[in-house]
Amino acid sequence: VESVIVAIDGPSGTGKSSTSKAVASALGLSYLDTGAQYRAITWWMISNGVDVSDPAAVATASGKPVIESGTDPSAPTITVDGLDASGPIREQDVTAKVSAVSAVPEVRSRITELQRSIAKAAEKGIVVEGRDIGTTVLPDADLKIFLTASPEARAARRSGELKGSDVAATREALIKRDAADSSRKTSPLAKADDAVEVDTTDLTLQQVIECVVTLVEEKR
Ligand code: C5P
Repeated sequence: VESVIVAIDGPSGTGKSSTSKAVASALGLSYLDTGAQYRAITWWMISNGVDVSDPAAVATASGKPVIESGTDPSAPTITVDGLDASGPIREQDVTAKVSAVSAVPEVRSRITELQRSIAKAAEKGIVVEGRDIGTTVLPDADLKIFLTASPEARAARRSGELKGSDVAATREALIKRDAADSSRKTSPLAKADDAVEVDTTDLTLQQVIECVVTLVEEKR
């Protein structure tokens, strides 16, 4: 395959983003962080006073914000109505509310459509990371990876990223978010039947990157 589409799914703290960016850079592919898009729409809802605990209110507002993603793996961007959202989407408030917003079917259908058009436009191919890429967004992807790791490893990695946060609280928040993402009705976090599962618990980031690069090269 000349142009290759790679889907990388899994829960938080498995190294999805770091792996996806590095693999895309190494192979000259575009990169899309779909979690950033769900975070962006959540940030817009919060900023515009939408009650995110009310699915009907979220559904009504879901078509309003204009979300754009830049797909260069060395400098990915995310904007909402033309404003850079890369800082605010990582705030704790957004992280706490994103699962509720992303569970709303109208939000998912809109963001899924956007993701498909971005993947289609990527001429040399793309690495798309998320929760439902292999199962729902790009079921015909050339390669599907499902990253896992023990809850302890995932919490430790996340606390390392968020300076000053404690591991126990991070672990609780992470488990709660994964449970919500895995149990929702519309395209939950799940491993596609044809995905390759990679347990990253005892692997370094470099090892995971090498493993995925090798799998992509086998498909090309
Ligand atoms: O990957 P990240 O942690 O930034 O994702 C934030 C949230 O966005 C997830 O917890 C999930 O609720 C939602 N999400 C999703 N489907 C995706 C990617 C992310 O529902 N494909």
